[in-house]
Amino acid sequence: MATQEETFKNIVSHCKEYGFVFPSSEIYDGLGAVYDYGQNGVELKNNIKQYWWNAMTKLHENIVGIDAAIFMHPTTWKASGHVDAFNDPLIDNRDSKKRYRADVLIEDQMAKYDEKIDKEVMKARKRFGESFDETLYRQTNPRVLEHQQKRDALHERYQKAMNANDLVELKQIILDEGIVCPISGTRNWTDVRQFNLMFSTEMGSTADGTMKIYLRPETAQGIFVNFLNVQKTGRMKIPFGIAQIGKAFRNEIVARQFIFRMREFEQMEMQFFVRPGEELRWFEYWKQFRLRWHKALGLGDEKYRFHDHDKLAHYANAATDIEFLMPFGFKEVEGIHSRTNFDLSQHAKYSGKKIEYFDPELNQSYTPFVIETSIGVDRMFLSVMCSAYKEEQLEGGDSRVVLQLPPVLAPVKACVMPLVKKDGLPEKAREVMDLLRLDFNIQYDEKDSIGKRYRRQDAIGTPFCITIDHDTLNDNCVTVRYRDTMKQDRVNIDQLHEMIRQQVDMTVLLRKLL
Ligand code: GAP
Repeated sequence: MATQEETFKNIVSHCKEYGFVFPSSEIYDGLGAVYDYGQNGVELKNNIKQYWWNAMTKLHENIVGIDAAIFMHPTTWKASGHVDAFNDPLIDNRDSKKRYRADVLIEDQMAKYDEKIDKEVMKARKRFGESFDETLYRQTNPRVLEHQQKRDALHERYQKAMNANDLVELKQIILDEGIVCPISGTRNWTDVRQFNLMFSTEMGSTADGTMKIYLRPETAQGIFVNFLNVQKTGRMKIPFGIAQIGKAFRNEIVARQFIFRMREFEQMEMQFFVRPGEELRWFEYWKQFRLRWHKALGLGDEKYRFHDHDKLAHYANAATDIEFLMPFGFKEVEGIHSRTNFDLSQHAKYSGKKIEYFDPELNQSYTPFVIETSIGVDRMFLSVMCSAYKEEQLEGGDSRVVLQLPPVLAPVKACVMPLVKKDGLPEKAREVMDLLRLDFNIQYDEKDSIGKRYRRQDAIGTPFCITIDHDTLNDNCVTVRYRDTMKQDRVNIDQLHEMIRQQVDMTVLLRKLL
């Protein structure tokens, strides 16, 4: 049985081998934490984006979309606080010359205490069997209590240091906890210092006419600066939302876990503008709606959890993450934030423009409050991949790798295969393709044995394989083989379209969210 670490490595190789994700500019040895999506990856990614876009804009008549530019006036980032405060606390190990995020080192240390507790509990469960009372054990076992106490104390100290932006204290925590560099194994640390995550470049061509601009680190600001444009031209009434999908860029220090933390990535963000005082009610609505959106895909309800933020940004009055169980633990996939009226007020202040909404029901003007939902396309892609990837042992000693993707997200919906390359079967297969290809993404494959062709489709998650054989020419029926069960059915060609539609139609999924 493969460990979680091995499974994750296998998923990364599978993504490359089957055209899902490639390292960027690989012929030049790649570029750190930058990736390209291949022929299957782009289809899966587009399906994820379509699911999100439709769930936001089609299911909510008060949400509209925009597509703002990546480059924005530099004052945007001064107003939003990114120039002054979009930092990570960095620390270097002098022996290995490796750079780390101080907060990540400390969070990893807390996770180690959790692991120790879990190990104790697991051992006890084995020892006591059926009669094991886990809650009681956690409350009374001296070793568990000792680990828990250390963890809680560390957590409190860490939270205080982060809230106070106390870099000296962060370093002291690392020293006191005896945290060593994973490469050199030493505690020879530099001081902790702040590092801004925004990429910058210059716009304009002459020396004195150039302007330092930034690649946007989030898409949200494109929505805030367009608040008035959309509200006025769309005659939008509060509450209403603006949705956007687009690239964002961050100079991440610790880029790891494949496409989990990238330097160029894609976000799907929605800002929902509400009356002041009503924000926490909407925050709760969006928490629940977003969780239902995730769960409707059927990846497993137990793989999701909320994680409320310990450290609230100074402008936020509530924030939570939706975490997904990846092979490397529960990790943030989406953030839901109640951002008060901070962003709109800041843009009003820095631009000198009045950014307010006149509420005809209240007969008064105000700066709307905002609930934001923000999900990374790439992280969503990774969570789908990780839950879909299965290595299966089959009867007779055979094995297969299958991607059990939700059919609506699968890059290819069906593969049409003539049993042999002669006797009019390829021509019949092409006829079947023509019936389906305009509505679904369909492949045609006539190479190798049927068994090998099935394996190739299993590996990219194709829900249906359709085989045309000699009988098809007489009875107008084909053999449909299902990806997950590997069972086969004889189906009339006239029923194929409807059979596939029922499984892959996104509206069926969206209806679950109504
Ligand atoms: N506008 C709010 C915002 O950007 P965030 O928590 O920094 O909030 C939102 O990011 C989401 O964007 C995250 O939950 C994650 O899915 C994705 N994300 C952030 N940084 C990322 C990175 N370096 N690589 C991939 N995805 C990232």
